[in-house]
Amino acid sequence: MGHPRVDAIAREAREAIAAAGSSAELEAIRVRFLGRGGALTQLLRSLGVLPAGERPSVGAAANEAKRELEALLETGLAEALETERRRLRARERQDLTLPGRRPPWGSLHPLSRVHDEIVSIFMGLGFSVVLGPEIESDYNNFEALNIPRDHPARDMQDTFYLSEDTLLRTHTSPVQIRAMQVQRPPVRIIVPGRVYRRDVPDMSHSPVFHQVEGLAVDRDISMADLKGTLELFAHEMFGPGSRIRFRPSFFPFTEPSAEVDVRCFICGGAGCRTCKQSGWLEILGSGMVHPQVLRNVGYDPEEVTGWAFGMGIERVAMLRYGIDDIRLFFENDLRFLRQFA
Ligand code: PHE
Repeated sequence: MGHPRVDAIAREAREAIAAAGSSAELEAIRVRFLGRGGALTQLLRSLGVLPAGERPSVGAAANEAKRELEALLETGLAEALETERRRLRARERQDLTLPGRRPPWGSLHPLSRVHDEIVSIFMGLGFSVVLGPEIESDYNNFEALNIPRDHPARDMQDTFYLSEDTLLRTHTSPVQIRAMQVQRPPVRIIVPGRVYRRDVPDMSHSPVFHQVEGLAVDRDISMADLKGTLELFAHEMFGPGSRIRFRPSFFPFTEPSAEVDVRCFICGGAGCRTCKQSGWLEILGSGMVHPQVLRNVGYDPEEVTGWAFGMGIERVAMLRYGIDDIRLFFENDLRFLRQFA
């Protein structure tokens, strides 16, 4: 049946297949014998050069060898693949005792935390949140708030002016004006927001920072209401044992005006570095809304009175978390921010 050349090729191929140790080797063998340029393929292709009498027998032998090798390769490949799969699975077996990897969790910025806390305390007291634009008119930021033309705050040195009469608001107080212009008393609002001042950055100054404004206007609103409200706030914010005190102060848009201190919660009032040995920490400015401000928005100061306060969010956060440099809030250094996770 056979033919010496065909037999030689077939034997060589059989031996190679038997010795092959992997699917890749088997594939190489297939190419070597049965591929386009493979030995058996070449032989089949060159049948034409053989003497006519030999062609049928060589052709038949070569085709038979081809079928045989194909079958051998197929089973060999199936076995090799199965072995390889098994080996891979064994290597990849999962270690169920391995602890899981924690997904990275983001966390709120310390300023967002303090902001949210302040806002939720006042919302609990019945205040609603009002927002205003950061680009303000000179009128709302200064004029309507009774801040005179020659007041140092109106100096180019202190305020970012965008034009003759527009500027980046220097405090959240202009939103008092906006709110009262569109609303009749009673008014009970808080206004959180970003404010700008032309300060050179240092440990305690940043050209941009945040405030929360508070405003209450109604019939018979008194300084006692302001005190009570801020006392409640302090208890919620700084703990039930906290105490506050009012110190006389001056703002053009409040009369009388007071600065409010909270008893130092670092040293309990004994005096320390944070409170500069005074035992008290200043947290906000406040006062009774000036009658002129009420008149400026069309309210009748004979009929209604009100109080307002303005609190620095950075200031509260610095005290709360013992942070000594305001710039840390704005550098977004993850080593700093991760401490608030
Ligand atoms: N707007 C004042 C400031 O930025 C704070 C303040 C607000 C004072 C409301 C009194 C009443 O310093």
